Amino acid sequence: MSRVQLEISLGILFVALTSALLIWYGLNEPKRMAEYELHQRAKAIEVGAELYDINCKGCHGPQGEGVVGLWPPLNDRHFFTNRLTEVGWSGTLEDYIISTVSSGRLVSTRPDLYPGQGRPVMPAWAERYGGPLRDDQIRNLAAFILNWKDTAPDRTAQMAEMAGPPTGTDINKQLPEGDPVRGQGLAAAKGCAVCHISAPTGPAWLATPDQPGIATRAEEILTDPNYTGNAKTAAQYLHESIVLPNVYIVPGFQAGVMPANYGDTLTDQELADIIAYLLTLK
Ligand code: HEC
Ligand code: HEC
Repeated sequence: MSRVQLEISLGILFVALTSALLIWYGLNEPKRMAEYELHQRAKAIEVGAELYDINCKGCHGPQGEGVVGLWPPLNDRHFFTNRLTEVGWSGTLEDYIISTVSSGRLVSTRPDLYPGQGRPVMPAWAERYGGPLRDDQIRNLAAFILNWKDTAPDRTAQMAEMAGPPTGTDINKQLPEGDPVRGQGLAAAKGCAVCHISAPTGPAWLATPDQPGIATRAEEILTDPNYTGNAKTAAQYLHESIVLPNVYIVPGFQAGVMPANYGDTLTDQELADIIAYLLTLK
């Protein structure tokens, strides 16, 4: 074989190999892109999870379960299926999350269910609104939340199931263990705080320079000779005051102002939660 012939053969071989390589590469391109996207998404979710843990779980719960009567769940079927229709949002859920998280919420859109606390109920998170997070970090948070989509439980149905029947007016009824954090949310959601904290329509719950908080007064009242009720403990006095407000009227206040039907509207658990909260107000 002459030198020229050899060079031509090698040239042909080289072109053939390069073509084969390019075809192989081209055929695999969609797969590689998909793998790359999957990898990017996994990375975003991972970073989002860390950011969620630091910034969001205090209100929305470690698993996105929220706090009943206070902060909304995000890991919730309703959030992925009906929430956009409910608020009249025409964009994607990702846009809704990014927009809400970036600018925060001044007031709750569902004050009866998730009133939050203080104003704003959720602070703004984006740097451009004075928050601590960059836009790419907020996109990662959205990726993390959207990753709950396929497994999100139906918490609305669970809540209704958990709720159970109204508690009634028997103050000797054994109540379940109460949760003071939920109780605080309920006291706001059920309107108690309006009369007992925001305005002096009812006896003040929080301690003032003149008198201790409701928990201490509930203790003291048991030995007061003017007390006309049947409670034996502070918790039972609170139970009685809520479901049978007219058995004993707190001096300086009028009968008939405090709604007398809470036994028909609160469940055992809700009542227990509110009492647990009141017992922390010494
Ligand atoms: C101080 C408590 C608090 C913190 C912290 C908080 N949120 Fe919120 N979040 C709320 C409240 C309250 C709402 C409004 C609920 C409503 O309007 O019904 C809300 C609403 C939302 C919504 C819209 C939910 C819906 O159903 O419309 C998203 C999404 C959200 N928060 C994500 C986040 C993320 C992500 C973080 C962390 C960066 C975060 N939140 C931190 C209290 C908080
Ligand atoms: C419309 C105003 C109003 C609302 C709403 C209201 N209360 Fe009252 N509450 C009063 C008044 C007035 C009294 C004092 C008269 C009496 O003893 O019934 C009172 C008394 C009480 C007492 C006894 C207080 C003490 O100092 O000994 C408790 C406990 C109580 N309320 C709890 C609640 C809870 C819990 C709720 C919500 C589930 C609630 N109240 C909602 C007006 C209200």
